[in-house]
Formats: sequence, C-alpha cells, structure tokens
Amino acid sequence: MPEHAPSQLQNLDRILLTEQQIKTRLQALGTEINSAYQGREITAIAIINGAVIFVADLIRHLDIPLRLDCIRVSSYRDATSAQQAPEIIDRIRLDIEGSDVLLLDDILDTGNTLAEVSKVLRSLRPASLKTCVLLDKKARRSTEFEADFVGFQIPDEFVVGYGLDFAESYRQLPCIGVLKSEHQTISPTT
Ligand code: IMP
Ligand code: MG
Repeated sequence: MPEHAPSQLQNLDRILLTEQQIKTRLQALGTEINSAYQGREITAIAIINGAVIFVADLIRHLDIPLRLDCIRVSSYRDATSAQQAPEIIDRIRLDIEGSDVLLLDDILDTGNTLAEVSKVLRSLRPASLKTCVLLDKKARRSTEFEADFVGFQIPDEFVVGYGLDFAESYRQLPCIGVLKSEHQTISPTT
C-alpha cells in the first residue's frame, strides 16, 4: 500500500518551511514576477516532475498573459546527489522564438540542470530568458549560475516535500522538510 503524507512526515528530521510560509512567499513572488513582466505575455516552462506543485501554485498568482509548457530532465536517479550530467529527456512543444520565457524549477543546487536547460532554450532564440526557483541551496553551487527570482535560500541539506522528492516519494507533502539521513537510502525490494 502506498505511504500517505502523515506517515511520510515521520521521516523528516525537521520542517524547514511550513505550508503557510510557502503560501505567503509565493504570493510575494507572484507580485515580483507580475511587475517584472508588466504588459507582456510570458511562456512559463516548468522542469518536471519537481516543479509541478510550485508552478501550479505560483502561476495562479500571476495576472499577466501566460502560456505553459514542461520539459523533463534526467539527473538524480534515486540518489541524493547528481550522478551524471543532466539530459533533456522530454522537450518542450511550444515555439518560444521571440517569446519572453520564464524557466522554473523546484531547487537550484549545483546549478548544472538550470545551466544546461538554459543553454538549450537559448538556442531556440527566445526574446528573453529568466529563471525562477522556489529554493536556492547556494552552498552547493558548482557552476556560476544565479536565478532571477528565488523563493527561499536554504542550507545545504537534502529536502523533500512540496514537489521535491527522494526516489519519487514525499512530493505530496504540503511543507518542505529535511529528510532524516536514515531515510536517504534506497531499501532493497523484498
Ligand atoms: P542541480 O542540477 O544540482 O542544480 O539540481 C537540480 C535538481 O536536483 C532539482 O531539479 C531537484 O530535482 C534535484 N535536487 C537538488 N537538491 C535537492 C534536494 O535537496 N531535494 C530533492 N531534490 C533535489
Ligand atoms: Mg528531483
């Protein structure tokens, strides 16, 4: 039987961001984005799966015209640190040439994912390209990459919830928490 949210909460060492803190910050982030793009249409591109919950909530605070598309990138492969260079495994479907593109992800960690996806999107000649992340783990950066819009700066710890996963679990938690180290291992299937 699948685990449900309350039992998943027990696997957290502590809660870093509550549901209410996330809600409040997203509203402010929406205001920031609305004023940055006043009078323009944006093409929001969500990196799935991690960004789905963040993007679904954030775009409902946007009152500018918006198109939405998704891109799928491989990287973590059921581990808590990147195993290999990110690879685009599902491309966008919208034509973004001449469009104002806002690329969104759940977390900016080493920076490799956003750097790589930005490079690919730039080759499609958008009018502009900005990035927005819910979380920024600055201490882990290995490429020179900064996002234009950031929800929260967080310490160098592995977090789950609100879209962020460990081995595809915990995405449905309404808050964001630090995963206990004993739960950062894949249990063998018996
Ligand atoms: P980067 O390429 O190292 O910046 O990593 C970005 C990707 O790694 C994100 O899209 C997340 O899917 C994943 N990631 C990085 N840190 C965490 C974390 O603390 N929890 C869950 N996923 C993470
Ligand atoms: Mg992930």
